[in-house]
Amino acid sequence: MNEILFLTSNKHKITEAQTILNKYNLKLVSFPGKGEEIQSDSLQEVARICAKRAYLRIKKPLFVEDSGLFIDALNGFPGAYSAFALDKIGCEGILRLLGQERLRGARFECAVAYADKNGTRIFTGAVLGSISTQIFEGEGFGYDPIFIPEGHKQTFSKNFEVKEKISHRSIALEKLAKFLTEKKE
Ligand code: IMP
Repeated sequence: MNEILFLTSNKHKITEAQTILNKYNLKLVSFPGKGEEIQSDSLQEVARICAKRAYLRIKKPLFVEDSGLFIDALNGFPGAYSAFALDKIGCEGILRLLGQERLRGARFECAVAYADKNGTRIFTGAVLGSISTQIFEGEGFGYDPIFIPEGHKQTFSKNFEVKEKISHRSIALEKLAKFLTEKKE
């Protein structure tokens, strides 16, 4: 089984990534933190630079991922500032910002940056959906209690099996796993 390092301190992200990579016989080893994060509006740029810097330090194949929630009615906010917004205003604050807004479209985006001796590659994933009008506690983390994926009635927090299949992170990691498996053959 090939080993790959995932730089994150987020237990939920590790579990979600393990589910995907195990299917491809890739063994995930987590490594705390993704290093010093740069300030940028681009998830891809943040992930790419973190992965590049980490590879220079660790010198083992690794990946870093950066995600964000983009809400249409808020012109894409919180986007690349999703962690900051969650920390400061939480899901409750997001619902307050949206108020009675009827157009509640949103999307999660994820950028996975994989680095090895050949350089850095980016794999992306996105899932469309909408923001609920109340918080639904359940499984998952972050904004899962208020994000309803398109074609479904419940939030990710209340329908976790769906999240595992269609999330922004699953899509990006499937692409990474396929790339790594094809590379081996
Ligand atoms: P980061 O990728 O760890 O910087 O995540 C940015 C913010 O988005 C954090 O506050 C996360 O809690 C949130 N977030 C990232 N991915 C997800 C997800 O899959 N579901 C819900 N919230 C997420």
